Amino acid sequence: MTAPPWALLSELTHACPLHCGYCSNPLELTRRAAELSAARWTDVFRQAADLGVLHTHLSGGEPLLRRDLADITRGAAEAGLYTQLVTSGVGLSERRLDALVAAGLHSVQLSVQHADPGRSDEIAGRRSFDAKRRAARLVKRRGLPLGVNVVLHRHNLDAVDGLLRLAVEWGADRVELANAQFYGWGLLNRAALMPDRAQLAAATEVVERWRARLAGTVDITWVVPDYFSGTPKPCMGGWGAVSLTVAPDGTVLPCPAAAALPGLDPPRVTERSLRWIWEESPAFNAYRGTDWMPAPCRTCERRTEDFGGCRCQAHALTGDAARTDPACSRSPDHAALLALTRGGTRPEPVPRRPAGPR
Ligand code: SF4
Ligand code: FES
Repeated sequence: MTAPPWALLSELTHACPLHCGYCSNPLELTRRAAELSAARWTDVFRQAADLGVLHTHLSGGEPLLRRDLADITRGAAEAGLYTQLVTSGVGLSERRLDALVAAGLHSVQLSVQHADPGRSDEIAGRRSFDAKRRAARLVKRRGLPLGVNVVLHRHNLDAVDGLLRLAVEWGADRVELANAQFYGWGLLNRAALMPDRAQLAAATEVVERWRARLAGTVDITWVVPDYFSGTPKPCMGGWGAVSLTVAPDGTVLPCPAAAALPGLDPPRVTERSLRWIWEESPAFNAYRGTDWMPAPCRTCERRTEDFGGCRCQAHALTGDAARTDPACSRSPDHAALLALTRGGTRPEPVPRRPAGPR
């Protein structure tokens, strides 16, 4: 029997006021007119809770662009899910937050791009730092747990010290420092965003110092870039193992980036039950467990720890989602991945645009 999921990523919209070059959303975004209604989301949350899901991230794009966000939040809370709003903070007024809390919102995760306001606005592609600071203040005043989330890359890794100071000043209970993963739009900007080894080493030291200083008060998550570590990440805790993603139009995916995998044919929650999708759909069973694995994963002692790494990364780098993740030093494709981390031309990142790259 398939073990139940416990996490649901609810991508309420792909629309977003920011233009971050590292955006991992797909090149072709879901149109606003194709987004699921609040009533449909409420049904998704009920089905998810029935299946065993415990919490959901209300995410995007920017979920605050959904005028019916309070209704959606209520649907999730009434289904018994723990709700976390994942937001840029742009558009979070006091009235809006009050309505969300009344609807059952439990916590907020706020993104920031740099410790310096001007640099943060530059990376986000618009003025947004002041809105983020205000949002943090509102969340704290309302007594909700606050997480601060930073996607790190070549243009802000040197600011990790300042970013941690900022998160503490804003009253964060959790800080997630996640080195950029190269999917969707971010894959187009890989050369521009790729850090240097020296930058990474320096940032790692800074994180360790802050961890020691803040031990027991602020939880710091440091997501290392697997391009440099030689060790693949156990992506999503395994394919179809613990979590599912519902895209704005109701497409259900084992991970947010899987829409780019050719031939996956992901099901929609408008056509099938979430239980069937989780337990029986070909998409969720494609890379579940270890039977699908190629060599060297098939006989590797780490195969039940990292699940052969990330299917989307294997596809992005080799054209075949069923190969060992090239981030693994044992992968036959590892040398090609290492070459991407070395010098070369470093163009400026192209800001995210709503339509495709052309
Ligand atoms: Fe993981 Fe496969 Fe590499 Fe072994 S060979 S460490 S299972 S990715
Ligand atoms: Fe899709 Fe890793 S991002 S499996």
